[in-house]
Amino acid sequence: MTKESGWQFALRVDELEDDAATEVVLRGRQIAICRFESGYYAFDNICTHEYACLSQGFLDGKTIECPLHQARFDVTTGEALCAPATRALERFEVRVAGDQVFIRLPD
Ligand code: FES
Repeated sequence: MTKESGWQFALRVDELEDDAATEVVLRGRQIAICRFESGYYAFDNICTHEYACLSQGFLDGKTIECPLHQARFDVTTGEALCAPATRALERFEVRVAGDQVFIRLPD
């Protein structure tokens, strides 16, 4: 699996926080990962409005609220749901193998 292009080990499943996004840094990029019963989601951890780490924000269901100006994003699609953010978050594919979480980064 990890021989396909772009897959990077991110963290172990037991390192993921419950009811919050967990930040990992891969190739210098800050990425947030959330786990739900429906699956795992990874997205850019930096808000598309200004500079704030979404993993420090509030996760409400599958919506995360930016801690700086309270823009909200759908973590399953990356879509910006309200102002002041207007641009979607970049999302990343996630795979779990055993107790390890992998994220696919663009080349
Ligand atoms: S930095 Fe996130 S809403 Fe402004």
